[in-house]
Amino acid sequence: MRVLVLGGAGFLGSHTLVALAEAGHAPVALDNLVNASARAVERAAGLGGRAIPLVVADVRDAAALERALREHRAEAVIHFAALKAVARSVREPLEYFDNNVGGTVAVLRAMQQAGVERLVFSSSATVYGVPARVPIAEDAPRGAVNPYGHTKHACELLIEDACAAGGRLAALLLRYFNPVGAHPSGRLGEDPRGTPDNLMPFVSQVAVGRRPWLPVFGADWPTPDGTCVRDYLHVMDLAEAHVAALGALEGGGGRAPALNLGTGRGHSVREVVAEFERAAGRPIPTRVEGRRAGDVAVLYADCGRAAQVLGWRARRDLRAMCADAWRFQRENPSGYAAG
Ligand SMILES: NC(=O)c1ccc[n+]([C@@H]2O[C@H](COP(=O)([O-])OP(=O)(O)OC[C@H]3O[C@@H](n4cnc5c(N)ncnc54)[C@H](O)[C@@H]3O)[C@@H](O)[C@H]2O)c1
Repeated sequence: MRVLVLGGAGFLGSHTLVALAEAGHAPVALDNLVNASARAVERAAGLGGRAIPLVVADVRDAAALERALREHRAEAVIHFAALKAVARSVREPLEYFDNNVGGTVAVLRAMQQAGVERLVFSSSATVYGVPARVPIAEDAPRGAVNPYGHTKHACELLIEDACAAGGRLAALLLRYFNPVGAHPSGRLGEDPRGTPDNLMPFVSQVAVGRRPWLPVFGADWPTPDGTCVRDYLHVMDLAEAHVAALGALEGGGGRAPALNLGTGRGHSVREVVAEFERAAGRPIPTRVEGRRAGDVAVLYADCGRAAQVLGWRARRDLRAMCADAWRFQRENPSGYAAG
């Protein structure tokens, strides 16, 4: 299938390009490079063994999107393009709604104009907010607690309404838990700009000496070691889930079911740090700080629906996630900046 991958130069997008190419699809990346490097697409093409064009454009530009869809005769769209830093979204809600929700309106418009009817959307476990119980299933109520999460909830509603409007649009809303790790080659990985917002890239930058210590937000949570527990998912498992999602969309239009993508088990911050120390063979200094507003003790997914609908299950464990993340960081200490 010819697939336009929006946000294809980013962390999750670039790994998905490789999985798509390996599965025999023909991906094209579109990205405005606000949080990414064109080098990630070049490296993905090398790993996937085929040329992958990069269109540099903003997803809010519906005309540019429509042109790209037509020019590359796209049959499906995977929409990763969004801003994702929770703390920044609290300070800049207009920017986040404009980019994430405005971007998704433009994507749906361009798809309609170009007659493209298959959409895989990057949603997030953030839409659940503070869940009443774990594991979290897809029918748990949505109740995001920050502007970033609100934009994902709004996009889900928008896509559900667009599918229900009677056309042939078929969509899947994939709610990611905590994607981490890197391609096992060490060529592709996570290279955030500025201070990392998530645990694994932070740990990784401490391990490589770019930062002195890891802040641990609360060590008094009601968990076995007092630190928060999350459902970490290897980025290549996530990439493979997108290949499976394209297959599942062939069934026809009018629907936008949500699927959790995780492993179904949780690991604490201390467990992640210990596993990373083993992978890197060096200590990772930590400092306990106060809890962050809006955090919860334990979050992990019920992945039964994804297994049923996609025939997919995560296969890689925390050891592989840390070993692969470390390999990328060690071989690219300054990320993609050095070439
Ligand atoms: N990484 C996570 O922990 C996580 C968890 C849940 C959901 N998600 C979602 O998955 C998607 C991908 O996340 P990621 O971790 O790869 O982030 P990322 O920042 O690495 O990738 C997003 C990409 O989209 C591009 N982009 C942003 N706005 C754009 C615009 N207006 N036009 C064109 N390109 C634009 C960026 O340059 C970047 O390459 C996002 O939608 C994110 O919200 C990520």
